[in-house]
Amino acid sequence: LRGEEVLVVSNREPYVHQRRGDTIVVNRPASGLVTALEPVMRACSGVWIAHGSGSADRDVVDARDHVAVPPDNPAYELRRIWLSPLEEEGFYYGFANEGLWPLCHIAHVRPTFRNSDWEQYLAVNQRFADAVVEEAKTNDPIVLVQDYHFALLPRMIRKRLPKATIITFWHIPWPNPEVFTISPWATELVEGLLGSSILGFHTQAHCLNFMDTVDRLLEARVDRETYEVTHDQHTTAVRRYPISIEWPPAAAMTAHPVEVCHREIRAENNLPLDCRLGVGVDRLDYTKGIIERFRAIERLLELNPEWIGRFSFVQISAPSRSRLDEYQSYEAQVRALATRINERFCPSGRSGPPPIILKIEHHPPEAVYRYYRAADLCFVSSLHDGMNLVAKEFVAARDDEQGVLILSQFAGAAREMPEALIINPYNADQCAAALHLALTMPAEEQALRMRLMRRLISEFNVYRWAGRMLLDAAIMRQRSRLPE
Ligand code: G6P
Repeated sequence: LRGEEVLVVSNREPYVHQRRGDTIVVNRPASGLVTALEPVMRACSGVWIAHGSGSADRDVVDARDHVAVPPDNPAYELRRIWLSPLEEEGFYYGFANEGLWPLCHIAHVRPTFRNSDWEQYLAVNQRFADAVVEEAKTNDPIVLVQDYHFALLPRMIRKRLPKATIITFWHIPWPNPEVFTISPWATELVEGLLGSSILGFHTQAHCLNFMDTVDRLLEARVDRETYEVTHDQHTTAVRRYPISIEWPPAAAMTAHPVEVCHREIRAENNLPLDCRLGVGVDRLDYTKGIIERFRAIERLLELNPEWIGRFSFVQISAPSRSRLDEYQSYEAQVRALATRINERFCPSGRSGPPPIILKIEHHPPEAVYRYYRAADLCFVSSLHDGMNLVAKEFVAARDDEQGVLILSQFAGAAREMPEALIINPYNADQCAAALHLALTMPAEEQALRMRLMRRLISEFNVYRWAGRMLLDAAIMRQRSRLPE
């Protein structure tokens, strides 16, 4: 890939500059996509085009809206796109997060599709297409388009840079055709994506669902042997690329010895040193199954009362998309359930560790890793999830080979890590049994499971994820340069 030009497009930016009084602070947003792609960009330089969302984002860019990042050790350029309140409302909150997000997570919340949102989605995709063309220095750059915010972008770029190699990665699930065609704009979305040279998903099931959706909606040749779709004289390869994380983790993540984390985290949370600890880390999102997780903890304490006062679960939740009603009411439900369970098993006036410690605030990655390293178990109970990188982060954090991962069968990660305790989050009794098993699992068995999962991630880290896509793209480019 030496000498090739690489452009990345995503909605969420990897660094957000925020004003705090007189100073500017830099935050890393809680986003699986950013977690995965940032180390890749650090390694390969290039330009990342994203929505400038921070209150001080404008103060640090140059005249072309560029800023070099990471701030303390610049390795690549971030180009910020400014969205008006109207654009943000329709494109991000409306079409992407009230329409496509619930749609692709199979409607645990009914998707909402409004005409006005669609218009903004179309317009903002067009603005990003303009930015890609503006940034491109050659007529055949490699463009990496990220996620459900940009379904229309590949086709728009293809029209203006026909020779570009466009790799699109869909970070969330792709549902079956019955579900996807709920969207009044299903055809436009699918046609937009078919501007890609390569379209990637986390699992084979999502690839197949996509091809079935194309088959249902378009006059296209869908080849189930080569996993290629030809439409409008253009062929798109549909491929599975399970996303991963940085391996080995950055030194700062594992800087504190496990014993120190164990002791300090318990002290900071007023828990006795011998208190057993579970941890959950998610954006506060209704797809993550946080309510089901708390019900499972309640069930554990009903069925195995010996854990009352001896086990606490810390739920770290970064607030997310809080302007949307669904997210506000989800937060209220999560808070109310935690309070009710704590009141039931640890009534006020009685001392002792509460079953649930809820922390609804943003935690930087180093702080999250301290919890991973202090915990006896990590509980991932997504109702539906593309991959779920928390599961992989917990495993990466445990260089002591201890700790148990409880993992939803509905997360893409379950396909890759069957050594976790795989559960159905809707089955409270099964989840409670898994919690009890995790808390009583012998150290040797923990190590055995952890070792297998660590091997998987060490072999398939995020550089392999990006590398395999870029390699496929490089081969495609070489083929297209052969004489006819
Ligand atoms: C998921 C999506 C990402 C998104 C992230 C955070 O991981 O796949 O595209 O960035 O959630 O959501 P937000 O709306 O805050 O960017």
